[in-house]
Amino acid sequence: PAEDEARIEEIKRLLEAHNAVLVAHYYTDDAIQQLAEETGGCVADSLEMARFGARHEAETLVVAGVRFMGETAKILSPEKRVLMPTLEATCSLDVGCPADEFSAFCDAHPDRTVVVYANTSAAVKARADWVVTSSIAVDVIEHLKARGEKILWAPDKHLGGYIQKQTGADMLLWDGACIVHEEFKAKGVEDLKGLYPEAAVLVHPESPASVVELADVAGSTSQLIKAAKALPQDKLIVATDRGIFFKMQQAVPEKTLFEAPTAGNGATCKSCAHCPWMAMNALDNLAGALREGEGEIQVDDALRQAALKPLQRMLDFNA
Ligand code: 13P
Ligand code: SF4
Repeated sequence: PAEDEARIEEIKRLLEAHNAVLVAHYYTDDAIQQLAEETGGCVADSLEMARFGARHEAETLVVAGVRFMGETAKILSPEKRVLMPTLEATCSLDVGCPADEFSAFCDAHPDRTVVVYANTSAAVKARADWVVTSSIAVDVIEHLKARGEKILWAPDKHLGGYIQKQTGADMLLWDGACIVHEEFKAKGVEDLKGLYPEAAVLVHPESPASVVELADVAGSTSQLIKAAKALPQDKLIVATDRGIFFKMQQAVPEKTLFEAPTAGNGATCKSCAHCPWMAMNALDNLAGALREGEGEIQVDDALRQAALKPLQRMLDFNA
């Protein structure tokens, strides 16, 4: 639409005027991903977003995604201004792991190394020894297990269970879940496999174990896009937020992609496989953030320094 075109042109002008760069997650709108790519920003998984933001020389980072991604950018680059289209975009994993309750959980298990998923608040990260994203979690836990460490993991029980299975590490799990990925059902994937037996199954490990068990490849959003290219199959069943289809289809234009079924169906559940918080990012509020300087992420300095340690450990970790 013409108004989108006008917004896109405005955002391009504003990015330049503010010496700003756009860092977008694969689950945001196609138009935002396209814009990030066209303007020298990045479209990536959460680890690559963190690395890109930390390295880039822009004065302002505009983070299109959910709040923990903006906070991570600010913790890694306190000298930069970090803007988000909206500060309301949270994550069910973050919401389900309040810092005070989490801290009490850690206090009750002082013998365990605390590893938290990046999908958490700065205050929860500040209590952790390590932060990991799904792309690096198995490697980090493998490393800690080899050092004889026992793990306290939070907040995603599905991802935690998956890592535990892969590594055999001793892991105590917090009881959290992603409301989007939890909706994928093994029965639906099996039925679809019944129709297309030759299809490969790609699953984000925030999904329930019964779904991950059906996967040919489980991994972060970037890893799933890479797998889509590398796998020989030309039909792919994909269990993650449908936002990923924009870049995945561009990566494999010749392949047919199927959305893994959720508990509901297209008629009863229009947004089951789409994160409601990622969906809050739009061209309008993105332009607004740049124009008015709204949606600026602030992280208290003491908290920032405490959260930086486990985050930096993740960035410095080489598998
Ligand atoms: P990735 O690190 O795989 O992009 O995951 C982030 C996320 O929130 C998935 O739901
Ligand atoms: Fe959080 Fe799930 Fe949304 Fe990812 S898809 S941001 S884990 S609620």
